[in-house]
Amino acid sequence: MKFFLDTANLDQIKEANDLGILNGVTTNPSLMAKEGIVGRQNVLDHYIKICKIGEDHTDGFDVSAEVISTDFKGMVKEGEELAELHEDIVVKIPMIKDGVKAMKYFTDRGIRTNCTLIFSPGQALLAAKAGAAYVSPFIGRLDDIMIDGIDLIKQIVKIYDNYLFDTEILAASIRNPLHIVKCAEEGVDVVTCPLPSILGLLNHPLTDIGLAKFLEDHKKANGKK
Ligand code: E4P
Repeated sequence: MKFFLDTANLDQIKEANDLGILNGVTTNPSLMAKEGIVGRQNVLDHYIKICKIGEDHTDGFDVSAEVISTDFKGMVKEGEELAELHEDIVVKIPMIKDGVKAMKYFTDRGIRTNCTLIFSPGQALLAAKAGAAYVSPFIGRLDDIMIDGIDLIKQIVKIYDNYLFDTEILAASIRNPLHIVKCAEEGVDVVTCPLPSILGLLNHPLTDIGLAKFLEDHKKANGKK
């Protein structure tokens, strides 16, 4: 399973990359705005900075960059500009009618896409038919309205298995470490997470108690108080 970081924060991307477990980054217009990245050129420059953090990866480091346009022509223009920035850029396209058309356009030209804002299995099916490299079901936002996001993951896994679609399932809107584990149980290809959710996987009280005891016993045995 691949781990992407769901942020535009360069320090957090570096921190996760230094851990050695990072395979890429996803961003969206809200995450860019949160970092104060405004203006087209600044946004483009920021994507290049993110890509450069992952340049030592020999097995790829995918960086999803989202279009703002909602019409076919606009998405094509923006997506082509984004794809030109760096070979690791994956053009992120919303699940709307023109988006499906744009994804097919990019697929036919060898430009990889990530279909975002997926909330139903039917939307995931359309994204796969359009040749999206990734499909992003939003787990947390479904949980927020009392619909189990993991049920959507199960449905998409089944549909993609039935037809052997190449599209990778990129579980998004992850809110906690349990989401990550549940996604792993269902066999998703990728999780994109905020850094605290990834770091939360480290924690277990018995690990802390066990380590403290090991160190204490070592000290005693070696004559230190
Ligand atoms: C990632 O591609 C999505 O944009 C992101 O995971 C959305 O997460 P949120 O629901 O926490 O905003």
